[in-house]
Amino acid sequence: MAQPSVAEVTPARFAEVEARIARIDDDARAVDGHPALGDAVWLDLEHPTTESAGFLFGDRAYAHIAPSDNGAPSDNGAPRHWTLGLAIAPEARIGGTTRALVAAAAAHVAAHGGGRIVLWVLGAGPDDDAELVAAGLQPARDLYEMRVALPLPRQPEWPAGVRERPFEVGHDEAAWLEVNNRAFAGHAEQGGWTASTLARRIAEPWFDPTLFFLAFDPDGLAGFIWMKVHAKHDPDPALGEIYVVGVDPRAQGTGLGRALAIAGLQAVHERGIDTGMLFSAADNEAALELYRSLGFKVHRVDRAYECEVAAQ
Ligand SMILES: CC(C)(COP(=O)(O)OP(=O)(O)OC[C@H]1O[C@@H](n2cnc3c(N)ncnc32)[C@H](O)[C@@H]1OP(=O)(O)O)[C@@H](O)C(=O)NCCC(=O)NCCS
Repeated sequence: MAQPSVAEVTPARFAEVEARIARIDDDARAVDGHPALGDAVWLDLEHPTTESAGFLFGDRAYAHIAPSDNGAPSDNGAPRHWTLGLAIAPEARIGGTTRALVAAAAAHVAAHGGGRIVLWVLGAGPDDDAELVAAGLQPARDLYEMRVALPLPRQPEWPAGVRERPFEVGHDEAAWLEVNNRAFAGHAEQGGWTASTLARRIAEPWFDPTLFFLAFDPDGLAGFIWMKVHAKHDPDPALGEIYVVGVDPRAQGTGLGRALAIAGLQAVHERGIDTGMLFSAADNEAALELYRSLGFKVHRVDRAYECEVAAQ
């Protein structure tokens, strides 16, 4: 039987192939226990950039490549970032599939100015390390998915002079962007957000401003917590995710991060959710200390694999 070859899918055809991609992702999920493609890929399939591309390997494997939200050419000469997503159905996990898809994505990046490709593998293990290193990618950083049973046995204790209220769309964007970008300065995914990065998240169907809290002190916006609800999806229960929590560096270490986290988890529990969840960089000691002290435990390790691609 002839090997399927890699076929490029242009953004104009994303809508047409999305159901096929979802089937591949579902089949991968059935054996892995978690999806292969992350939110960034689904978001880009819905709202592609002009430089996004997909690659289908028959109907059984898919690679998606797109400039990251903050992947615009930078002034300081740092490489542009590209997000790669890979979904491979179980029967296509044979020699060559990963390599062929990564090579196609790398050729696309080379033809579009080059840059750093970042691939997140959920539930990564030694087999992924071997397969992806052979395809030219290197393990770069780990992310922990952590979970905790709700409700937490405590109430938020706000630092003196702090009041909180929900995010108001059309009013709070500029102040939030400033504080977010200060709290996450130098962070690859959560730092350097622009008004359009935020607008794309707000346009998502899951966005709920009543689960996005801002905390103000007398000097203005001091911190925030943004929650995301995931419906039950076997084998996972419904999850209340701490999507982003951030405290302006000027207000860090005052107990605000802890109060925000407790308040956010309480709000999702009030919607009937019994499991809190979050992702944290494995080297973010301040955040990990906070989460562990609230009872969070590591549920899964996700790993970023990266490579630099020169412009063609
Ligand atoms: C993580 C973050 C939200 C914590 O908020 P905070 O207001 O600074 O933290 P708090 O004052 O409420 O401290 C809560 C706990 O966090 C831990 N913690 C906070 N700062 C810490 C530090 N520098 N080193 C180690 N642990 C630290 C401690 O366990 C602390 O509890 P304790 O005071 O009883 O020891 C804040 O540091 C931040 O915004 N960081 C940058 C953005 C980020 O990494 N967000 C999380 C990833 S989504």
